[in-house]
Amino acid sequence: MISKIGIIGAGTMGCGIAQIASQNGHEVVVVDKETLQLEKAKAGLDKILSRLCEKERITSEDKIAILNRIRFTSELKQLSDSDLVIEAIVENIGIKHEVFKAVESLVSESCILASNTSSLSIASIGSALNKANRCIGIHFFNPAPLMPLVEIIPAVQTDEETLNSAVELIKNWKKTVVTCKDTPGFIVNRVARPFYGEALRIYEEGIADFATIDWALTELGGFKMGPFTLMDYIGNDVNYAVTESVFKAFYYDSRFKPSFTQKRYAEAGFLGRKSGRGYYNYKEPKSNKEANKDRVLGNYILDRVRCMLINEAIDAVFMNVGSPVDIDLAMTKGVNYPKGLLTWVDELGHKEILDQLQHLFDYYGEDRYRPNPLLRRMVANKTKFFPH
Ligand code: NAI
Repeated sequence: MISKIGIIGAGTMGCGIAQIASQNGHEVVVVDKETLQLEKAKAGLDKILSRLCEKERITSEDKIAILNRIRFTSELKQLSDSDLVIEAIVENIGIKHEVFKAVESLVSESCILASNTSSLSIASIGSALNKANRCIGIHFFNPAPLMPLVEIIPAVQTDEETLNSAVELIKNWKKTVVTCKDTPGFIVNRVARPFYGEALRIYEEGIADFATIDWALTELGGFKMGPFTLMDYIGNDVNYAVTESVFKAFYYDSRFKPSFTQKRYAEAGFLGRKSGRGYYNYKEPKSNKEANKDRVLGNYILDRVRCMLINEAIDAVFMNVGSPVDIDLAMTKGVNYPKGLLTWVDELGHKEILDQLQHLFDYYGEDRYRPNPLLRRMVANKTKFFPH
């Protein structure tokens, strides 16, 4: 049974995961090499819990108990009696290897060693261990206490027992768990790429401006945020880095090709909300253009981005990255899509989506628009992902 939980990294993700674990009654030890960061994390958590008290989500006794169950320290050795350690430090494979090696030398044989990495391979992280069968990816979304989805990623070395224990624990924390193959971007960060990439491409071709593309996807498509608003929210530097890492990891498949526009915006320091300017100007909102609400143009934009997203979701099924149910859950619970992409293609008609993709492929002659073979097969066989 998993009782004591260790977290390495007291940053955005480590703090959020520590909060969830403590709220679920676990004793938690949070380790960070920076004492200042530990102080910040403690104060930040106190503030978050006070807000939950004000909103009457928890009582002040709960708050005290949650804080008392968490120990903040800079000493890695305080993790020695953990049943599970979740690493949430800097996204650097060399540093992760060092930390995993050091932790393994401190903990028991049965302790599960997990990483919250967004982009690195779990197999590679596990390769630093003597007992790699206990290594697993447990990928939370930001902000971890609020986002319902957790991707669980067994590596090729991971044993069944480790996988089952991780799934059981995270389900007990009332999270939506999806299991996925140890492939770049796992489910969400892979399938979501065209939301940004195709929107940027439409802009680069001069078909529409940022506001119009955002309007088409929110008003006509039902997405909570348009791609440019979302990239500004995530940060162009961060979003570009994820795209570039997925592109490289897929051996430069043109489906994931990063955009020069985004690169230039990041280079110019137009990072988004955090820098006051991204695709939109947050210091002088009045200077931002109004959307062109032409429905024909809007529907063209929506169809183009959506068929690329659907093609990516179908590829994830085709390549056994996850089950159709998990892929739809991942996109609705991890990035709040209005509908699972596979449910959407069932509703819109597989033939319709194949025609849209085939048209783009014929027109541009570019590999990035190639329709997935599973989509072709489903059209030929007249099958659906969710026939009932
Ligand atoms: P962050 O930069 O907010 O925090 C990282 C913390 O790790 C810092 O406090 C740093 O002092 C500490 N640290 C670095 N090296 C260390 C070491 N050797 N020993 C102990 N502590 C060390 O980073 P963030 O955003 O929390 O990301 C952490 C991990 O979670 C990364 O692997 C990232 O890819 C992943 N992730 C991030 C998400 C996000 O939206 N920020 C979402 C999902 C996963």
